[in-house]
Amino acid sequence: MPEYIPFNRIFKDAEERKALADALDGDCWHGDGPAGKRVESYLGEWLGSPHVFLTTSCTHALEMAMLVLDIGEGDEVIMPSFTFVSTANAVRMRGARPVFADIRDSDLTMDPEDVARKITPSTRAVIPVHYAGVSADFDGLRKAVDGRDIAIVEDAAQAVGAYWNDRALGTVGDIGCFSFHDTKNITCGEGGAFLTGDAGLAEKAEWVREKGTNRSAFLRGEIDKYTWVSQGSSYIPSDLLASLLEAQLRKKERILEARAGVWHAYRDRLASAADKGWIRLPEIPPYARTNYHIFHFHVRDLSDRDPLLNRFREAGIGASFHYVPLHNAPYAQKILGAQPPLPRTEELAGTLIRLPLFPDLEIVKEVVADRVLAVLTDYFTGKRGD
Ligand SMILES: Cc1ncc(COP(=O)(O)O)c(C=O)c1O
Repeated sequence: MPEYIPFNRIFKDAEERKALADALDGDCWHGDGPAGKRVESYLGEWLGSPHVFLTTSCTHALEMAMLVLDIGEGDEVIMPSFTFVSTANAVRMRGARPVFADIRDSDLTMDPEDVARKITPSTRAVIPVHYAGVSADFDGLRKAVDGRDIAIVEDAAQAVGAYWNDRALGTVGDIGCFSFHDTKNITCGEGGAFLTGDAGLAEKAEWVREKGTNRSAFLRGEIDKYTWVSQGSSYIPSDLLASLLEAQLRKKERILEARAGVWHAYRDRLASAADKGWIRLPEIPPYARTNYHIFHFHVRDLSDRDPLLNRFREAGIGASFHYVPLHNAPYAQKILGAQPPLPRTEELAGTLIRLPLFPDLEIVKEVVADRVLAVLTDYFTGKRGD
């Protein structure tokens, strides 16, 4: 049995160990300490964002977004059904209604034409998800919202260091939300960030993040007491985690380069399987520069996906599906009632396979890509076992 290749492995070395040890030896374990501040200004400079707030997760950054936009009962927020539950929960937690739009065959991002069809007078925001680190279609989305007072909140959980034209994802919409979970390209275990270019939203974000108080202004010496100024919660990560994130950010080029190497090895090796019609490879639109967060492909037939996932597992390859669509999930049915079908979402989610992708695979990328091709060849040349 060849060595098992997990779906993901954290890229780490002595730098993270040292950063954490130094932070542990220091006197600041709470949040918004020196490491947190350094990381926020580093991210702001790198990505071109005037207001960056580290958060405890992307889930929490999305919750903050709904709070600062004052989204509540009677409001609707449009998002893909093909996303992680946090996108919908953030809306639901405000008592607002998630409205699910379909996605596109080419890149699995939200279909602007379906967004346009789903806009009503109650629509307050749209949340595009940059699936796999590939930008949503901002031109299309802006056309869909067409001058209405509808905020664009980017769920950029997977998209740190990816771009729409020359603009970093997370900085293109009104608000951007990042994840630094350990499944992401850059990680501190659990973490995230909230970004905005709007000073008014930034002020509210500062309150919301600090339990609904103006304590941050107090700590800067701008006021002599802090008090309760808005709804809020505890969204500030410890400086221990910020120190870890700082060490990871220092190797972001190395991480990106290695991921790109693995991604291209898969792409090159699997081109023949796509030519034979066994699988379909997704496209990257010309305005998008990916951060190589995910490598995925589609099988042609829904019935092939699960048996193939088993074959990959048997061959020691930790391949995985992605997202059970939210519009058909039990909780959506319970709170929203029966949902209209989303044909593209249902087919694309049912045929998707993700392959292992992490920097340490770089040195064995050809071997792994060959092993993947061998599994596909066995399966599609009649050894399906059926
Ligand atoms: C699209 C999307 N949104 C939100 C999240 C939540 O991120 P976090 O784990 O940082 O809360 C994820 C995590 O996988 C995600 O993929």
